[in-house]
Amino acid sequence: MSKKTVFSGIQPSGVLHIGNYLGAIQNWVRMQHETENYFCVVDLHAITVRQDPAELRENTLRVAKIYLAAGLDPKACTIFIQSHVKEHPEFAWILATLTYMGELGRMTQFKDKAGTKGENVGVGLFTYPTLMAADILLYDTHLVPVGEDQKQHIELTRDLALRFNNAFGATLVVPEPVIRTVGARIMSLGDPLSKMSKSDPRPATYIALTDAPEVIRKKIARAVTDSGADIRFGPEKPAISNLLTIFHLTSGTSIPELERRYRGKGYAEFKRDLAESVIEHLRPFQERYAALDDAEVLRLLADGADRARAVAACTMHRVKERMGLVPA
Ligand code: AMP
Ligand code: TRP
Repeated sequence: MSKKTVFSGIQPSGVLHIGNYLGAIQNWVRMQHETENYFCVVDLHAITVRQDPAELRENTLRVAKIYLAAGLDPKACTIFIQSHVKEHPEFAWILATLTYMGELGRMTQFKDKAGTKGENVGVGLFTYPTLMAADILLYDTHLVPVGEDQKQHIELTRDLALRFNNAFGATLVVPEPVIRTVGARIMSLGDPLSKMSKSDPRPATYIALTDAPEVIRKKIARAVTDSGADIRFGPEKPAISNLLTIFHLTSGTSIPELERRYRGKGYAEFKRDLAESVIEHLRPFQERYAALDDAEVLRLLADGADRARAVAACTMHRVKERMGLVPA
């Protein structure tokens, strides 16, 4: 049986945090040897929000290094930068011609990001999901591992693949989301009702993957907690539930076991141990990250783009032929 193909990507904007790691990257690492993989640094998505050029360049390389330090094996995974493969924006245009305004207007990420901008919201933010669909569909992707917030975009991707196939004949593979049940949504340390976000202007609300141990200790010590002193998982305890989830995912200890261990103990001791669990969990990652050589990473990315391009060009050729676009 041939391996299933996996595609996922992260935007090089803001600071990657343990939500990205526990909710996304760790699952990729776990699956990588059973599947054929494409992991992309989606820089063309990042520019839907204005980016400082120097920062964008730095963040793009940083995300690629995070992929590698997290344990993605370049032999098992094609790791590349989205803008290196021009078939992505090319196919996004074609998919945009099949997409309805209403579909894009219903995307909750668009509604969140558009906020109160009214008519002044960028067109790129609106058409963002067609580029994401292009990313996925170019590689005949079966599985898209993401956090829960991306589910709606993948539903749209499926609809577009089916619409294309209905209109032009079976051409595109219809992908499925893979969403982890625990950890799919790590919440902010400052507000357990909103997700930990890399665009949050307050660094205290997230644990960056590159935070030093003393920074992690401080952030966890200051994390918001719930009223009442018991350490219990449940809807009436969103802050402690979030911390328990992080504890579980970084230590491997089950949540009921953690509840038992901290019964009758205070938040201070719980948080102290949680901080050590996070620090220990990130240590090997941080050591690998520090040891990576930028020139070597760039070489791997160039190699990844070559491999990605070969597959993407093939899909584009098929797509154009089906649609009646005359081959060059
Ligand atoms: P983003 O940070 O929005 O670019 O997301 C990159 C990847 O990390 C996507 O797969 C997201 O679904 C996932 N992700 C982002 N934030 C979180 C979070 N707080 N908890 C779990 N997964 C997340
Ligand atoms: N939109 C995703 C996010 O913000 C990033 C992304 C772009 C992506 N293209 C993708 C994720 C393709 C999975 C597959 O997290």
